[in-house]
Amino acid sequence: MIHTLDRKSSQGSDVMIQEIKKVAVIGAGTMGASIAAAVASANIACVLKDVDEKTVFGGLTKIDRIFESKVKKGLSVEEAQLKRALITASCDPKSLKDVDLVIEAVPEVLEIKRAVLTELDRELPEQAIIATNTSSLSITQLASFTKRPNKVIGLHFFNPAHLMKLVEVIPALQTDEQTIETCLAFAESLGKLSVRVEECASFLVNRLLGRYMNEALWCLQEGVATAEQIDQAAVDYVVPIGPLALRDMNGADIGLAVAQFNFQEYGERFRPAPIIEAMVERKILGQKTQAGFYLYDPETRKKTGINPQIQELVAELNKNPNKPAKEKSTQDFSAERLFLPMINEAFLALQESICKVEDLDKALMAGLGMRKGPLALAEDMGLAQCLEKLEANFKTHGERFRPAPLLKRYVWAGKAKIN
Ligand SMILES: NC(=O)c1ccc[n+]([C@@H]2O[C@H](COP(=O)([O-])OP(=O)(O)OC[C@H]3O[C@@H](n4cnc5c(N)ncnc54)[C@H](O)[C@@H]3O)[C@@H](O)[C@H]2O)c1
Repeated sequence: MIHTLDRKSSQGSDVMIQEIKKVAVIGAGTMGASIAAAVASANIACVLKDVDEKTVFGGLTKIDRIFESKVKKGLSVEEAQLKRALITASCDPKSLKDVDLVIEAVPEVLEIKRAVLTELDRELPEQAIIATNTSSLSITQLASFTKRPNKVIGLHFFNPAHLMKLVEVIPALQTDEQTIETCLAFAESLGKLSVRVEECASFLVNRLLGRYMNEALWCLQEGVATAEQIDQAAVDYVVPIGPLALRDMNGADIGLAVAQFNFQEYGERFRPAPIIEAMVERKILGQKTQAGFYLYDPETRKKTGINPQIQELVAELNKNPNKPAKEKSTQDFSAERLFLPMINEAFLALQESICKVEDLDKALMAGLGMRKGPLALAEDMGLAQCLEKLEANFKTHGERFRPAPLLKRYVWAGKAKIN
């Protein structure tokens, strides 16, 4: 429950925030169940709603498992039972009549979201806030489906929501300050880092992640490093898991859909490396097909080695009868090459005022588990050196490395720190 009722808005004025005593989560799937567990863990009552009893009870089973694992990690059985008892399951829209905030986590399909938002708008009390956990749809467009667009907002949790520390709070163009501040405070009350992110495709963290994931694919496709070398270099540099192992976890099909969406929204610098499309065509999807960049044991899902099909694909993609094969040098590969596009995208996001400078690295660290954020990486490199490296890569690889104007300005101003 939120007790503080006064909060300074990002503009510095005092805003009366709404008290959130009861939450509803719509959709008891992967995200909905773990969001409900996060809400109840903060001692807030929560209704979990889905289309039918079987599905909503499936969600409750997932929640039981989450609380069991919390008990194994030290939560007392009594505490776990008290928190678990705060979640009630329902398929009835009338169960929403006294909630203060709803978080929808239904499938990422515009027409499903439209139907759900329309129903929520009809059933909810006038003052209730409607939050969406969408990863890619426009919050502004979703808000326009309701008669309360000022009370609609994005609350972007990361998977699994009961463990991941970050929530991106994304206002629609129509969202009022009270709703924004209430949601920032609500996410904090769940023990999360809540970061205000202005609306843009993929929001902040997944936008920056997309640039780095795609660069890993280009490196692999060019044949300048193997999957293992790419993953090891990234882990040694700054992340807990390599980009290609991560892609195998999430699935090449999901990765391709996200990459195509980013390309459509941002253009050339996000052009997906063709290897991902070739993998999806051949159903080399990652852990779910036991073969991606690596091979996996069907029982344990553990990695058993590299996938030889990938080497064949790389050779095939580099076959060009009109061009003699270019000597590939391992000098074309470094961990820095993987992260320079992410660093550059961070400057582009700052240039667009997508978030506050001081929030950017924190969000990336909480969202991706990075040991350092992209701005700190740029500062460590030296901003002038960072720019030089981008320029050199721009000459070799083109648009993906076109330096962000804001970075150039920092260098011209002789600044060593980004603030
Ligand atoms: N899975 C992730 O890693 C992830 C991460 C961040 C955000 N998201 C976003 O979260 C949302 C949900 O994703 P998910 O992976 O949990 O999906 P999911 O398919 O696991 O779950 C969706 C649930 O919504 C239910 N549902 C469908 N129509 C409904 C309706 N009319 N009313 C109530 N429930 C309904 C389904 O029965 C299902 O249980 C999507 O917008 C997705 O983009 C997903």
